Amino acid sequence: MTDLLDHLRTAVGDAHVLTADPDVAAYVVDWTGMYAGRALAVVRPGSTAEVAAVVAACHEAGVAIVPQGGNTGLVGGGVPDASGEAVVLSLGRMRTVRAVDPVAGTITVDAGVVLADVHAAAADAGRLFPMSLGSEGSCTIGGNLATNAGGTAVLRYGMTRELVLGLEVVLPDGRVWDGLRGLRKDNTGYDLTQLFVGSEGTLGVITGAVLRLFPATPRHATAWVAVASVEAAVSLLGVAQSRAGAHLSTFEIANRQAVDLVLAHLPGATDPLAEPSDWYVLVELAGAATEEGLDDALEAILGEGVEAGLVADAAIAGSPAQRSALWALREGISEAQKVEGATLKHDVTLPIADLAAWATAMAPVLEEVLPGVRPVTYGHVGDGNLHYNVSAPVLDGKGRDAELLAAAPDLSRAIYDSVAAGHGSISAEHGLGRSKAVAGSSYKSGVEVDLMRAVKHALDPRGLMNPGVLLP
Ligand code: FAD
Ligand code: MLT
Ligand code: ZN
Repeated sequence: MTDLLDHLRTAVGDAHVLTADPDVAAYVVDWTGMYAGRALAVVRPGSTAEVAAVVAACHEAGVAIVPQGGNTGLVGGGVPDASGEAVVLSLGRMRTVRAVDPVAGTITVDAGVVLADVHAAAADAGRLFPMSLGSEGSCTIGGNLATNAGGTAVLRYGMTRELVLGLEVVLPDGRVWDGLRGLRKDNTGYDLTQLFVGSEGTLGVITGAVLRLFPATPRHATAWVAVASVEAAVSLLGVAQSRAGAHLSTFEIANRQAVDLVLAHLPGATDPLAEPSDWYVLVELAGAATEEGLDDALEAILGEGVEAGLVADAAIAGSPAQRSALWALREGISEAQKVEGATLKHDVTLPIADLAAWATAMAPVLEEVLPGVRPVTYGHVGDGNLHYNVSAPVLDGKGRDAELLAAAPDLSRAIYDSVAAGHGSISAEHGLGRSKAVAGSSYKSGVEVDLMRAVKHALDPRGLMNPGVLLP
C-alpha cells in the first residue's frame, strides 16, 4: 500500500493525503454517530483531473473508494467500514461555482460546493436554487445528487433529480465522463445523468453539475398551525393546494414529541402557541417580489381550516425573524433528537391518502415491541414522506438507549413490513447507504435487484466504488 499512498501524494500533494488518526477522525464517523469505520487514507483532491488520478491509482491497486461530500448523510453511506482498507475521497476542496446563466436558468458547480453557497450564488444572480435541507450549511451538491436528496421544497420543485441537467463524473476506472450540458432537451439515448443521481457513490465520483435555477421568491407567508391529527393535516393540505396553487412551497408536519425535543434541547426555541397540540404543520407560500396576496391566501387557508374543524390554532410570521423562529421548530428536530440520545431513523413514504391510517396503526405495534418507545414523527407530509424516527423509552428521566438498540431489528422490521404492505418505500429521500442496504434489496423484486446489479457490474466490474453501500 506504500506504493498507492505515494501515487496519491503525487496526484494531490502530501498535505491532502491524510493518514494520522486525529486527521482522519472527522471523515470516518457519520453525522448520526451510529456508523464509524477506519480508512487507509483520506484523500482531498482539488480538481477533476486530481480526482481522476486518485480513482485511477486506486483502480490500479484494487483499493475501494468511499466518496464523501459534507458527511451529513443519514444512512452511513459516506463513511468507510471497519476494515480500514478503503480510501475516503473527500470532495471538500472542490468548491468553485463555475458559471451562472440567469437567462438559461442554469448554474454550473463543482461537486464539493456547499448547498447554502449554491443558494447564495443563485440569489446574487436574482434567481432561486430551491433545494432546502436542514443540513444545507454543510451538505454538498455532490452528496445531494448522489443521494437524490429531498427536503422541504420537493412539494413545489421536486427531488434533486428534477433539478439537474448535466453531470461530470469520474468513472471507476479513472476516465472522465463530461456530461456537463445545460440542455433542456436531449433525446439521444439512455439518460446517463439520471443513472448517477441516487447512486450513492457506487457508480463513480460526481465532480461537477449543471443545475436548474428558478425565478426568485423573496415574498413569503408562513404559519405554524396546530392540527388534531395526520388526517387533519392531509385535509388541510388539500385546502392549501386549492387556495394557493403553485404558491404553496412548504407543507411540513411534526408531532408534539418532536416539538418537545426542540424546545428542550435547542437554545432559543419557543412555542408560539398557548396550548399544546398533538400535531403541527408548517405552511409556507412563496412568490415573486411583485406578487401580492400571499398573506390573504394564507389567511383564507387557515380560515377554511378553522371552519372545517381542521385547525385549532395558528401563529403567522409577522417578520423575517418570526419566520426563522417558526422554521427552527421544524428544521431543529433532527439535531434535537440527536441530543436526546440514540435515534432509529425510518424515512418512509406512502400514498398521501394512507399516511394518517398508517401512522395511527403503527404506534401500538411499536409499543408492543418495546413499551414506552417514542415515535418522533415529522417530515414532508406534502409529498407523502414521514420521518418515523424512534427514540428510547424514558425511565427516571433517562433514555434507555441500550434497550432501543437491542429492539432495533424488530422495530425496524415492523415498520418496513407495514410500509411494504401499504405499497410505500422504506427510503423516501435519505437513500439506503449501509444502514438499509440489506433491507432495501429484500423489499425489492428479484427483477429489480438483478437490474440494479447489472448496472453496477457494467460500470464498476471490480466492485471498488463504495462497496457495501446501496447493494449488500
Ligand atoms: P455525504 O454524507 O458526504 O455522502 C452521502 C452519500 O453520497 C454517500 O453514499 C457518499 O458516498 C455519496 N457521495 C457524496 N459525494 C459524492 C460525490 N461527489 N460523488 C459520488 N458520491 C458522492 N436529506 C434529505 O434528503 N432531506 C432532508 O430534509 C434532509 N435533512 C437533513 C437534516 C439534517 C440536520 C441532516 C444532518 C441531514 C439531512 N439530510 C436530509 C441528509 C443529508 O444532508 C443528505 O443526504 C445530503 O444530500 C448529503 O450530502 P453530503 O454532501 O453531506 O453527502
Ligand atoms: C429532515 O427532514 O429533517 C431529515 O431528513 C430527517 C432526519 O434527520 O431523519
Ligand atoms: Zn427529510
